[in-house]
Amino acid sequence: MMDTARRHEFRVLAAAHPRLPVLLTAGRLARRLRRLPRIGWVTSDPLIARRILNDAEHFTLLGEGGVGHLWAQVLGDWVYEIFDGPGHHQLRARTRDLFTDESARRLTDRVIGPRLARAGAELRAGRSVDVADLARVLVGRIVADLLVLPVADRDEAYREIFATGEELAALALGTTASTHLPAATIGRAREIVGRLTANVAGSWRTAPAETVLGRCRDLGLAQRQAEGLATLLMVAGTETAASAMARTVAILHDTGAQHRLRAEPELLADAVREGLRVTTPAPLIGRAVAADVTVDGRRLRAGERVLMLTWTANNAAGGFDLDRGYLPDQRQLWFGAGRHLCLGAPVARAEISGLLSTLLDTGRPWRIRNRRYRRGVLIPSYASLPVSCG
Ligand code: HEM
Repeated sequence: MMDTARRHEFRVLAAAHPRLPVLLTAGRLARRLRRLPRIGWVTSDPLIARRILNDAEHFTLLGEGGVGHLWAQVLGDWVYEIFDGPGHHQLRARTRDLFTDESARRLTDRVIGPRLARAGAELRAGRSVDVADLARVLVGRIVADLLVLPVADRDEAYREIFATGEELAALALGTTASTHLPAATIGRAREIVGRLTANVAGSWRTAPAETVLGRCRDLGLAQRQAEGLATLLMVAGTETAASAMARTVAILHDTGAQHRLRAEPELLADAVREGLRVTTPAPLIGRAVAADVTVDGRRLRAGERVLMLTWTANNAAGGFDLDRGYLPDQRQLWFGAGRHLCLGAPVARAEISGLLSTLLDTGRPWRIRNRRYRRGVLIPSYASLPVSCG
């Protein structure tokens, strides 16, 4: 029988897309590497997924079926250089230390610390806090800071930023069949990107060295590269982080693991890692085959597509368990692998840790009532998750 945590997680997936739980669970059958009509090659094996993600010679995210192909239509052909070519290598080499665990913690302390403190005070006063909404506001705050957006200091303004990022990311919805975007979608996406990056140019020269834009400048990035990176951070780091935050809070509640974590706070990093593994907010990663290659005895041809079911690969290890420890096969496949490994991983971990610490610091167990799942979204998540302590 399915336990409570898993049941809610399945509902989160099903609300995002009715076929998602089926694809992700049946995906186990594809385990190693299998070809499916209309989808292409599918794997749910963590080692094969990593082998593909590490093979930049034969797999690309620029071809049909990859996110690079999507973004090139929106941002321009220079994306081909930045996303996967030598320009990508240079960009990643320069931004290797853009976020470290230490700098990410400083970023989250500064940008979301005060808002988290307010949420903690509300919980201690016996009020209910919608953690799903709070997560969207927190992520909106981080994005506003990264993109130097002038924002009125109200939750509503940050919700709007989150929604804008979400709209941009929704471009990718339905791209399991094709990554060719209609002209109207491209126009709308360009308009959003223009709005979001409007201040990057202006702040480029003056941004203080401790801000991300200032760091990009000091690391030697060109302004256009920084604008592209800012857009990427926004798209990659909004829904994913908010999803992981709310779902990890729910899982700790549903499994009862919150009680152990309260008694043993040194397990916080394990809770964050397990939350990321079990939720795997970006449940699939796509690539195009750039050149014929044999993987696991199967011949993959240039132009074909591969879908890596990372949710399935990560969850094959079992449900949320604070004692599970590091899994060498999965490693941190929830952040991808290889040259496109998530650049914001330290920020995501710091955001989740910050939220969990706020809940744990109330000293009381949290209860959840009347949760709702988000419907028809790219990244499965909660619509609302009202939490109260005491
Ligand atoms: C729980 C939260 C997050 C998850 C699960 C996640 C997951 C991922 C995954 C799977 C990829 C690789 C995609 C691919 O190979 O096609 C990726 C890339 C990326 N992520 Fe994250 N991400 C998260 C949060 C963030 C945050 C907070 C930021 C920024 C502050 C961020 C920035 C990026 C960027 C810039 C890339 C592209 C890297 C490249 O192509 O070289 N992500 N992320």
